[in-house]
Amino acid sequence: MTTDIPDSPARLRARLRADLAARGEAGRLRTLRVAAPVRVNLADNDYLGLATDPAVLAAARTALENGPLSASSSPLVRGYQSHHAALEKALCAWHGFSHGLIWNSGFSANQAILGTLVSPGDLILADRLVHHSLIAGILKSGATFTRVAHNDLDALDTQLRKPHAKHRIRWVVTESVYSMDGDGPDLARLAALKRQHGFVWMLDETHALGWYGPQGQGCAASSGVVKDVDVFIGTLGKALGGMGAYALFHDHALRESLINHAGEFIYSTYLAPPLAAAATVAIERARMRAGESAAWRDQSHRFREALRQRGWNAPPGDSPIVPIIIGTDAAVLALGQHLLQCGFAVGAIRPPTVPENTARLRISLKADTIWEDLDALMREMERWRESDRAVQ
Ligand SMILES: Cc1ncc(COP(=O)(O)O)c(C=O)c1O
Repeated sequence: MTTDIPDSPARLRARLRADLAARGEAGRLRTLRVAAPVRVNLADNDYLGLATDPAVLAAARTALENGPLSASSSPLVRGYQSHHAALEKALCAWHGFSHGLIWNSGFSANQAILGTLVSPGDLILADRLVHHSLIAGILKSGATFTRVAHNDLDALDTQLRKPHAKHRIRWVVTESVYSMDGDGPDLARLAALKRQHGFVWMLDETHALGWYGPQGQGCAASSGVVKDVDVFIGTLGKALGGMGAYALFHDHALRESLINHAGEFIYSTYLAPPLAAAATVAIERARMRAGESAAWRDQSHRFREALRQRGWNAPPGDSPIVPIIIGTDAAVLALGQHLLQCGFAVGAIRPPTVPENTARLRISLKADTIWEDLDALMREMERWRESDRAVQ
């Protein structure tokens, strides 16, 4: 290459290397590792163990044996198949909505829905800790965007009382169980605010599925607010043990608009049919196990209590996600590594995924987690704390 032609590949390489080096120096480099088998897995989101449930696997296997493996095209060409339609129907019946749409992932659903249904003139009020996929959709929408203090419904009320242009559509975006904090807002009060202020409510129930609700269908059901939610989001890759996501609506126009305008839906090969078949059976399994969920929530409550008694910073609650705030990146990485060596996989979460100085362990409790393992985990945490103190 002659010297007067700018060498863009070299410039790109230099830029990326500088960025990676800076991340490394800050101790924030993310690296990809193959997950090794562990004795106790408290790191993933398979809360009900449905990723290995025999009935769920059998449904996937049967669909696979009958083929096809792939949807092989966009849903609008030939990708939307009988397994997807049956799953939509099962989801609507489970949650009490009239219209449903399956997505390849929760990330694409959230990004597409906010990016497509919200217009630049609209106003979005979103909890400060909503998932990155929701933020991606909000930014894509071009709407005016205000972040509201986490789970602070007084602050939300204050925002909603502010004068606004009459024609403007206002959206409120929340989760029912936050992915890194394991807490959630008072949904009954949110529904009351909606009745008072008339916003469009988008609720992501990803981490509540299976764990809450009379049939495991989440917090909107247990709080009696299903009719108030305009856009309900659930994912298939966490408690339901497979992969993909769904959105549910009371109003047909929302579903049809997405089918007509959402690029993530129109221009992407659709969810593999065996995954849709597996999810339909996973709903049945979640429904059948819902009677046990009071015991799972009780264990979450007791575990948090026990952690606090031992001097750890864990908030009260009963969700499957138990955050233990450690503080520095280095400490959380060292503790996570120590626990892994002792046979426990846990999440070690650092900024920017969580706010600065709140690096944390993220413990995912499962339906089959036994107290003896949690007790052993706490003993190993204590052992690490004592040896860490000894080093200092
Ligand atoms: C609240 C929430 N919504 C959406 C998603 C994205 O779902 P998916 O993993 O199916 O892309 C996640 C994933 O972590 C999440 O925690």
